[in-house]
Amino acid sequence: MATRVFSGMRPSGRLHLGNYLGALQNWVELQKTNECIYAVADIHALTTLQGAETQEIKNNTEEMVLDWLAAGIDPEKSITFVQSHVPEVLTLHTLLSMSTPLGWLLRVPTFKDRVRQMGESEENVSYGLVGYPVLQTADVILYKADAVPVGADQVPHIELAREIVRRFNRLYGDTFPEPQPKLTESPTIIGLDGVNKMSKSLDNHIELAATEEETAKRVMSAVTDTQRARRTDPGRPLVCNVYALHKVFNPEWLEECYERCTAATIGCVDDKKILAEGINRYLAPMRERRREFEGRPGYVREVLAHGAEQARKIATKTIEEVYQRMGLS
Ligand code: TRP
Repeated sequence: MATRVFSGMRPSGRLHLGNYLGALQNWVELQKTNECIYAVADIHALTTLQGAETQEIKNNTEEMVLDWLAAGIDPEKSITFVQSHVPEVLTLHTLLSMSTPLGWLLRVPTFKDRVRQMGESEENVSYGLVGYPVLQTADVILYKADAVPVGADQVPHIELAREIVRRFNRLYGDTFPEPQPKLTESPTIIGLDGVNKMSKSLDNHIELAATEEETAKRVMSAVTDTQRARRTDPGRPLVCNVYALHKVFNPEWLEECYERCTAATIGCVDDKKILAEGINRYLAPMRERRREFEGRPGYVREVLAHGAEQARKIATKTIEEVYQRMGLS
C-alpha cells in the first residue's frame, strides 16, 4: 500500500528559497510515489494573528498556494486544501484534547519558546496556543496519514502526535496509525545577512516569485567574508554564504569560484552577479508557471475547493468512526 503523507504550512504569503529547499521541494518529490495531502494551516495561524491581522490570511493563502503550484504541487495528484475548509479537524481536536494531559503540552519546546518570545507568563497565553500540537495531531490523523515530512523543529510535535495516538488507540481500540516524522534532509539555507537561517521576518530572504531585478538587487546586498575588506584581499569561501549558495545554484562554478576568490582574482561584486544569474536561472521555470496560474482568475480558489471536497470525504468517515468508538453515536 502506498504511504499516505500529510503536511501543512501556515499561510505566510509568498515563499522564499529557504522554504523551497527546506520543505516544498521535498513535498513535490513525495507526490511521485505517495498519496499526499497538503494543507494550508490557517487555524494554526490564529495562534499568532489577532483582530485585523486575521484579514491577511486569505491573501497570504492565495500567494502561498500559487507558490506551491508553481513549484510543482499537482492538485490532480495531491489533495491540496485549506485546513479551515474541512471543519471536522476542529471536532477531532476537541475530542483528542479530552485525553491529552496538559503536562505533555506544557513541555513542548516550541510552546516554551513562544511563551518566552512573547514575554508572557504561561497564565496569559491563549488556550489555543497550548493546544497547537493537538490541532496538528488532528490534522495528520484525521486523514490517517503514516508519514509527515517536517523540519527538525517540528519533530517534537509529531512525537507528541504519536503519544496521543497510542493513548487513543489504547482507550478506544486501534483506530489511527502512528505517524512517522519524515525529516527533510537538506542543508539549512542561510539568508543574505550571512548568519541567520533564511527567513521572511529577518528580511534576509529571496522570494521565489521575486523579479529578476529584485533578486539581483538583494543578492548584491549579501554579506560575504567580512574579513575581506579590499578587492585585492584573498577571500575565505568556506566562511562565505555566497559561496555556500553557489553549491545549490551554480555547482559548475564552485571550483573556479574557490580558486579565484582565494587568489583574489575575482571580487565579491562580480561573484554575486554570478550568483544572481544562477538563482534567476534556477527559478525561471517556477516563475513562468506562477505567471500562468496568476493569469487564470479563480484558479487557486477552484483548486482549493476541489481539495477540500476530497479531504472532507476522508474526514467525515474518520469522525464517524471516532464518534462510534467514543460512545457518541
Ligand atoms: N506546525 C507546522 C509548522 O509550523 C505546520 C503544520 C500544521 C503541520 N499542521 C501540520 C505540519 C500537520 C505537519 C503536519 O511548520
